[in-house]
Amino acid sequence: MDYGYPKGRVFYRKLTRTYPVITHGEGIYLYADNGKRYIDGSGGAVVVNVGHGQRELLQKITDQMSRVGYVHGTQFTTQSVEDYAEALGRVLPAGLGKIYFLSGGSESVEAAIKFARQYCLESGHSQKWRVVARWHSYHGNTLGALSLTGRIAMRRPYLPLLVDFPHFPPPYCYRCPFGLSYPRCGLECAKALENIIQMEGPETISAVILEPIIGATIGAVVPPEGYLQLIKGICERYGLLLIDDEVMTGMGRTGRWFATEHWGVVPDIMVLGKGMSGGNFPLSAMVTRDEFVDRLKERTGGFVHGHTFSHHPVACAVGLAVIEFIREKNLVQRCQERGATLLRKLNELKPFPFVGDVRGKGLMTGIEFVKDQRTKEPFPRSAKFTEQVMDLAFENGLVLYSGTGFVDGVNGDMVMVAPPYIIEEHQIDEIIEILKKTFSKVEAEKEI
Ligand SMILES: Cc1ncc(COP(=O)(O)O)c(C=O)c1O
Repeated sequence: MDYGYPKGRVFYRKLTRTYPVITHGEGIYLYADNGKRYIDGSGGAVVVNVGHGQRELLQKITDQMSRVGYVHGTQFTTQSVEDYAEALGRVLPAGLGKIYFLSGGSESVEAAIKFARQYCLESGHSQKWRVVARWHSYHGNTLGALSLTGRIAMRRPYLPLLVDFPHFPPPYCYRCPFGLSYPRCGLECAKALENIIQMEGPETISAVILEPIIGATIGAVVPPEGYLQLIKGICERYGLLLIDDEVMTGMGRTGRWFATEHWGVVPDIMVLGKGMSGGNFPLSAMVTRDEFVDRLKERTGGFVHGHTFSHHPVACAVGLAVIEFIREKNLVQRCQERGATLLRKLNELKPFPFVGDVRGKGLMTGIEFVKDQRTKEPFPRSAKFTEQVMDLAFENGLVLYSGTGFVDGVNGDMVMVAPPYIIEEHQIDEIIEILKKTFSKVEAEKEI
């Protein structure tokens, strides 16, 4: 039985469609109560990494629940919180030794904005509070995070509520914002950060935030070699903290534990979410340098921030079970290998006239659709191209993640393919087959 507005009491994000009821999941598959099977080709919102229905996680999680399910983070801790922090600390980049647990990606971004501000304040830089972000980024939907997010359509209704944070163009080589091409461009897009810092005044800026590989808004856009190193250098030169938003890319998704490792860059603050719990519980974190936390300890004696569900004992038990699962099964390496296969096979879709770009790293990949492969002209938004692909793929039993509007704020179509890390080679073939079937139908039905 499907639910959806106006049936049932719950209202979901989309009020114009109905939602199948999923009864259970197993590995990369989800099963609905009408017997239909779906391949979770995007792990939900690029969350599910160890797969669905992993019974070996269960014992560790219920053990914690049966011992104690909740204590408040200002009063107590539990061994699950401390043990998970130790396990996470072993894979975090050297220097990032302190972890603050939260419940969702937006929450961890909010914490990062505030931590950067408090750190500046307690370092004698009371004017520093603004965070520089990029257009086409996604950092979350709460008001602080949305003020950083560079996704026009999501910002527009709430503009009067947003904080005045500056934005600069992304390293989007397929549609270079400067009309240049790599490497002759000299990484103009990274240098744009320096211009904006100078214009806005470095004395007002606390930090720069970026997704090392751009996810939800444009779909797995990997920066060119040298980009992140240049950004880090600019941050250092102007005394700004670098906030690395690894909510989507972190925990192994791109074939390294954290995506910035591909370029040897260590940020000052890292935010994590999604894959930390593999989707089994709301869990996120803000991670930073020991000496920054020492500074807060010496001055105010605390981080002026907090939530009811931060440092949650069960959430951390889930996180611990998931990180152990990833380590024991060597899944980060597997992401790298399976990711290379997935990307190679997605490239086989390029003969479809509307496949403009195929991109990504590890098991975080994206396909951008265009009306004209040569000119890269996007489909008009009124064509609802992405929606057609998503609906047909769904009908064919494949769940994808989508984004629109990134070319000019209105037009622009993409889907992401980001399956659980445990995916087998033959299951990648299953995804490709469904994509081919879906694209063939779209091609037959559309006047392209
Ligand atoms: C890079 C990034 N940051 C932050 C967020 C926000 O996370 P949440 O939806 O858990 O609040 C997301 C969600 O897609 C994301 O991709």
